[in-house]
Order: sequence, then C-alpha cells, then structure tokens
Amino acid sequence: MSLASIIMVVILLLIAIITLIFLIPGLTGAPYVPSEKAKVKKVLTKLYPIKHGDLLIDLGAGDGVVLQVAAKRGAKALGLEINPILALLTNWRFRKNRKITIKCCNFYRYKFPAKTTIVYAYALANHIETIRRKIECEATRLNKPIYFISNAFDLEDIKPEKKWDSFYLYRIDPQS
Ligand SMILES: C[S@@+](CC[C@H](N)C(=O)[O-])C[C@H]1O[C@@H](n2cnc3c(N)ncnc32)[C@H](O)[C@@H]1O
Repeated sequence: MSLASIIMVVILLLIAIITLIFLIPGLTGAPYVPSEKAKVKKVLTKLYPIKHGDLLIDLGAGDGVVLQVAAKRGAKALGLEINPILALLTNWRFRKNRKITIKCCNFYRYKFPAKTTIVYAYALANHIETIRRKIECEATRLNKPIYFISNAFDLEDIKPEKKWDSFYLYRIDPQS
C-alpha cells in the first residue's frame, strides 16, 4: 500500500469516528444544536431568576452557553456532555471559570450533587419523559424538589409552572 493510500484511509477513518461521535448523542438524548444565548438570558431571568446559591445542571451541555449565562448570574453550573470532543472544547473554553464544571458522561448515569436546584435540557421529544423520570429519581434520592427547564418540549401530564417562548419550567417533586 502506498503512503498516499495509507493517509487517505487514516483521513477517512478520522472522518468516520468524528461523524459517529456527533451522531451517537442523537440516539442517547439529542444531537448538538445550541440554545439561543439571548433567549437563555431571558429564561434565566423571567422563568427562573437564577442567583447565587443555585446549582444548575445542563443535561447535554454542548458548547456551554447555558452554563455561561448561569455562572454570570452568580450560580454554579455543571455541564454533563456525552460527546468527548464537545466536552473537551467546552472544558477548555471555561477552564478559568471557577463556577463552571464540565463532565464527559451520559447524564442518565450521573448522580446529581445534593446542591442541585435547577436542571436544564434541550433534548429530543422522545427523550423528554425519560429525562423527567431521571430528575424525579434524583429529586427522590435527594429528598427535595428540583426545578426543570425544558427547551422545545413539554411534559405529558404535568402543568408547567411557567412558559415562555419554547421554554417550560416545571417543579419536579420527590416521589413517595
Ligand atoms: C440540543 S444540544 C443542547 C446543548 C446545550 N444544552 C444548549 O442548550 O445549548 C444536546 C446536547 O446533549 C448531548 N447529549 C445527548 N445525549 C446525551 C447524554 N445521554 N448524556 C450527555 N449528553 C448528551 C449532545 O451531545 C448535545 O451536545
């Protein structure tokens, strides 16, 4: 095999791996599409006025836009991201921000810290009820309510506390 063919095979393999890394999250939650920063700013003012003392978790943090807005308002922000490339880039981007932490993991398998107050997700419609059950489990384990902001999709049988634009705010209570 010539050097040119070897280089071509390596390039094709790299493209296939990177494509897979971006496609897999589409099966496990949602593909990478960022929330609009201006809207996130409004949501974290109008729907849930986030403040110092809050701990926000973004389920599928992407490029960290939600974490950035939350941290600017004085809250702590934890991003869970399954895509290692995005997790690495976002980690690097916020490396000097002590309020922001990124973990590369599947959010369904992650135990929320006890201080969690609010969870944000921009996920696919067919994942929203599974995400709700995950938050319910964590609220029950931590024995406290957890607020949940869903971008784009509402929950089936629970009335949102507030709604604005494509965003819904829910209070998820521990189950007895
Ligand atoms: C629609 S994007 C939203 C990004 C960010 N939350 C925002 O609103 O800008 C969804 C993100 O969730 C990630 N994701 C999908 N399934 C996941 C899972 N099971 N665990 C962690 N991250 C996941 C994807 O890689 C993608 O970056």
